Amino acid sequence: MVPRTYFQLLLFLLSLLYFSCRSNMESDFENWISWNMKSYQKKSIMEKKYRNVSVIGQGLDLKLRQAESKKISLTVSQNGAADFKSITEAINSIPPYNTRRVILLIAPGVYREKIVIPKTLPFITFLGDSRDRPTITGNDTASVAGNDGALLRTFNSATVAVNASYFVAINIKFEQNTAYVPIGSEVDQAVALRISGTKAAFYNCSFYGVQDTLYDHKGLHYFKNCFIQGSVDFIFGYGRSLYEGCTINSITKNMTSITAQKRSSSSLDSGFSFKNSTVTGSGRVYLGRPWGDYSRVVFSYTFMDKIVLPKGWKDWEDQKHYLNVYYGEYKCSGPGSNFTGRVPWARLLTDEEAQPFIGIHFIEGDTWLISP
Ligand SMILES: *[C@@H]1O[C@H](CO)[C@@H](O)[C@H](O)[C@H]1NC(C)=O
Ligand SMILES: *[C@@H]1O[C@H](CO)[C@@H](O)[C@H](O)[C@H]1NC(C)=O
Ligand SMILES: *[C@@H]1O[C@H](CO)[C@@H](O)[C@H](O)[C@H]1NC(C)=O
Ligand SMILES: *[C@@H]1O[C@H](CO)[C@@H](O)[C@H](O)[C@H]1NC(C)=O
Ligand SMILES: *[C@@H]1O[C@H](CO)[C@@H](O)[C@H](O)[C@H]1NC(C)=O
Ligand SMILES: *[C@@H]1O[C@H](CO)[C@@H](O)[C@H](O)[C@H]1NC(C)=O
Ligand SMILES: *[C@@H]1O[C@H](CO)[C@@H](O)[C@H](O)[C@H]1NC(C)=O
Repeated sequence: MVPRTYFQLLLFLLSLLYFSCRSNMESDFENWISWNMKSYQKKSIMEKKYRNVSVIGQGLDLKLRQAESKKISLTVSQNGAADFKSITEAINSIPPYNTRRVILLIAPGVYREKIVIPKTLPFITFLGDSRDRPTITGNDTASVAGNDGALLRTFNSATVAVNASYFVAINIKFEQNTAYVPIGSEVDQAVALRISGTKAAFYNCSFYGVQDTLYDHKGLHYFKNCFIQGSVDFIFGYGRSLYEGCTINSITKNMTSITAQKRSSSSLDSGFSFKNSTVTGSGRVYLGRPWGDYSRVVFSYTFMDKIVLPKGWKDWEDQKHYLNVYYGEYKCSGPGSNFTGRVPWARLLTDEEAQPFIGIHFIEGDTWLISP
């Protein structure tokens, strides 16, 4: 009898501990939300004050302003009559610790290149023609062996990987040609673009892949008028990114998740914000599932097609996520946006809660976004 009582007592104490931790965590989380709103309000007051004195461009950070003031252009075309025949050659011509903006004017065509832009080459811009956008294509996957014989894994499967900061791409198609990977399969990850540098912007770009198309790895990123296609977790990583006017196209045949945001601790300022975008395609999709325990994703003013499952969000088989993830929706439309069937831990944001996420302030864009 005695051991049993002890055991019950122990259970009781443990459950007390659990519930007190739990309510602590809950109040921590609520504190964070109100902090997030207050911090936004402070920032916007500062911004209004400074707006009067700032001339266009003066708000940019110093390094970028200097790089911009001495920018140069290089041409790339496969048909000769250009400075370089390949994007790789053009990149290799740039001296390390580059301090000027280098704009690569890339002629239409299909470029079969695997590109890694090292950290030492910031300020590179890929500029394509909006009427006939060049395609950069590759066919590596996570399970292909690299030059050293080891498997590439997801990280190194990228057709284009950018380690450098201040990268810009305009009118470019990034592709992972995984024709041989069954659509909707979860067998092989293959990244079209990995962006690991901060202060990167993409305008009118397309990203084609199957599983893990766009590795939004880390840093501040802006995606405007982009098209992103994939099947499973095809926008993933722990970037702090604003996606505006983008089309997210699912090609899955099964039930999958679009995003796998990896905010892994409460102190990480990371999250994906989709604004004025469209979610469409095939299969049945969740808007997100938490790759990181503190995953943060917000959809605002977005049209959601009927492919979005009523539950909306997935927990990745671990209930502890309910307490810490921040999955919000604000003023979305379309058959997939009906909030009635949503998981109880999804949030329909108030105006105040949504504000921090729905402008370029979310990514501090006023200090680094330059006109394309
Ligand atoms: C900005 O300048 C205008 C006109 O000079 C003035 O009316 C306005 O009060 C100023 N705003 C702030 C926030 O200082
Ligand atoms: C890019 O960054 C990754 C991760 O830090 C590193 O493994 C890789 O060697 C880098 N590549 C280049 C070319 O700098
Ligand atoms: C990928 O492309 C390369 C070069 O174009 C080719 O040699 C290789 O066989 C292709 N691999 C697959 C799996 O298609
Ligand atoms: C779709 O899901 C079902 C059930 O989980 C599975 O049997 C099937 O293989 C999946 N199809 C693909 C293409 O992955
Ligand atoms: C983006 O594409 C549209 C439509 O093709 C075009 O009008 C616009 O100029 C492009 N934007 C840039 C920055 O090139
Ligand atoms: C929303 O995005 C569409 C393109 O997808 C664009 O035509 C429209 O102007 C955008 N609306 C706002 C309010 O930004
Ligand atoms: C949302 O879904 C609920 C339950 O499925 C349904 O009763 C309601 O009519 C739907 N609302 C709209 C606006 O479609």
